[in-house]
Amino acid sequence: MFLETLCKRNINTIFYLVKIIKLNAIDSTNSYLKDLSKQTMLEDTLVVVAKKQTKGKGQMGTKWRSKEGESVAFSVFKRFNNISVLHQPYIAFAISIGVQTALEKLKIPSVSIKWPNDIMSYQKKVAGILIENQIKGTNLEASVIGVGLNVNESEFEGLPNATSLFLATNKKYDLDVILESVSEAILSQLERVSVSNFETLKLEYEASLFRKNKVSVFENTMGKQFNGIIKGVTDTGELLVEKEDQQLNKYQLKEIKLLL
Ligand code: BTN
Repeated sequence: MFLETLCKRNINTIFYLVKIIKLNAIDSTNSYLKDLSKQTMLEDTLVVVAKKQTKGKGQMGTKWRSKEGESVAFSVFKRFNNISVLHQPYIAFAISIGVQTALEKLKIPSVSIKWPNDIMSYQKKVAGILIENQIKGTNLEASVIGVGLNVNESEFEGLPNATSLFLATNKKYDLDVILESVSEAILSQLERVSVSNFETLKLEYEASLFRKNKVSVFENTMGKQFNGIIKGVTDTGELLVEKEDQQLNKYQLKEIKLLL
């Protein structure tokens, strides 16, 4: 039913043996890894990739749909040592920077991070990230990091704000090569969390923010639209938006929507 492969990775000059479990079909690679982690002591950096997900999960309870054979859907199990729950936002910063870096290496044009962690090419979403953290006491024990990447799709019916690597570059990509480069870049960036490289991670994340320092239209929970300028994020991961009265306001994920 599944194929396991071992892959030697050079991550920041440390050689890791990354085990990859390749599944034909599963409900969700995130759910698969989470369930497996409850039954057995999973090894750090285990990767699970599925050709098809029947119940792919997106952020905030949404569904993630991807086309079999044209996209990459995978999850990584990452264990942490002595990382406080307070540092969870930095894990998310590192993962977003990892996906962005991998896409930039592939020469995908105008890659940015739409807060909190959608990966964009120009104005359209090319990849989504779902991070599910496992907490023990005040420590972050492990994360299941799910990435859905649109690769060779030539159209997105009913999704005007989605794009793929193919649509961005007019080139077709080998899905295994994409899996390898994106998962390697994520693990490499996460090494920076392990060595407490927090401040530079935040600065880099902020520098990559989609529509930073541009007047944008937002919608609040009451459905009211307002103009604001993205200025950065707080240490706890909230979005900092300057409103027309020049006040800097902070917002959590459920409190604000950036309208394209
Ligand atoms: C989002 O943008 O809403 C996040 C999408 C995350 C999708 C990926 S696909 C692999 C992994 N398994 C899931 O069920 N979800 C994530």
